[in-house]
Amino acid sequence: MAYLEVRELSKIYDGTTVLDNIGFDIEEGSFLSLLGPSGCGKTTTLRLIAGFEKPEGGSIRLNGTIINGIPTFKRNIGMVFQSYALFPHMSVEQNVSYGLEQRNHNHSEIKKKVAEALEMVRLTGYEKRKPKQLSGGQQQRVALARALVIRPSLLLLDESLSALDKKLRVEMQVELRQIQKEVGITTIFVTHDQEEALTLSDYIAVMEKGKIVQLDTPDTVYEHPKNSFVADFLGQANFFPGVVRREGNHGYLLMMDEKQYLPFRCDEFLEDGTHCTVSVRPEKITISDREEHQAIRGKIEFITYAGNLSIFRIRALGQEIKVQQQNISAGQRKFVAGDSVFLSWEPESTLILEREKE
Ligand SMILES: Nc1ncnc2c1ncn2[C@@H]1O[C@H](COP(=O)(O)OP(=O)(O)O)[C@@H](O)[C@H]1O
Ligand SMILES: [Mg+2]
Repeated sequence: MAYLEVRELSKIYDGTTVLDNIGFDIEEGSFLSLLGPSGCGKTTTLRLIAGFEKPEGGSIRLNGTIINGIPTFKRNIGMVFQSYALFPHMSVEQNVSYGLEQRNHNHSEIKKKVAEALEMVRLTGYEKRKPKQLSGGQQQRVALARALVIRPSLLLLDESLSALDKKLRVEMQVELRQIQKEVGITTIFVTHDQEEALTLSDYIAVMEKGKIVQLDTPDTVYEHPKNSFVADFLGQANFFPGVVRREGNHGYLLMMDEKQYLPFRCDEFLEDGTHCTVSVRPEKITISDREEHQAIRGKIEFITYAGNLSIFRIRALGQEIKVQQQNISAGQRKFVAGDSVFLSWEPESTLILEREKE
């Protein structure tokens, strides 16, 4: 039995199904991200688990107990929201102890627990400060301490790093993950930011329109997305729709229309006549000025220099293909807009999506 088991959970608002039979398991101590575009049902899922809302159907089992009927305050779940709303007039210590005071803990116990929670988030020595005397990252850690001080059985974080600027957010991601591992707390993190989900999580549940489309480890969702939605939402991808024709022993042609076809290789067997979308990520494509076997001929339309990377927009097969290359050395062969080039990639980088046999 998993530590948290969510089964066939559904939620309807005003006649609209917002969560459509979602289910997932989380092992104790692991970190799951719910990732998806705005409105797909991430916050609703957290609110149901926390007990702020009642589901239309389904069950939530935490540590062996079905908690559907248990009121929020008895579920012992810690939650941090995007607007973590610290009490501005209270000190760090008072903000963190608030939840314990509400629960009528005695004074010495509160003092000890607050000190422990502040140590967990590395804020020992900041007890007397007011929120406005802290940086954004420190305020975020106070909010985290406030959630952890009750020793929750589960930690729920709703876009809780989104308000921070990029650099700080990346630092906090690393810290959050370290703290989560040290405390060993089972965590569900909600985000619409794919990079954040990839860096933080043991598992990612990709959501679309109230459903979980794919639940896997970060590298699996990225390298083996189940469909175009996942491929597109996590990172970038080029898509080529067409019909497969076998060509020799290992190769295929993807017939895109009467004039255009894409030669490709892949690690799996495809039958002649399979309708599918062939997809390849921009960073897997190599640009060369020499023609190689099965390479695609194209013309560079536009190059964006991004410091560590260069992003190429290349016209080929009647569409625009995105290619990303690391700027490894300053002396690297520099292509310019207008150059004719050849594109190729390894067979294992070919993703076959939405396949359908005629
Ligand atoms: N209290 C509510 N009443 C009516 N509709 C709601 C309510 N809460 C959320 N919704 C709707 O449910 C859908 C999912 O919302 P939400 O779970 O907040 O999405 P996310 O967190 O993924 O952005 C949205 O279409 C939203 O408008
Ligand atoms: Mg939300």
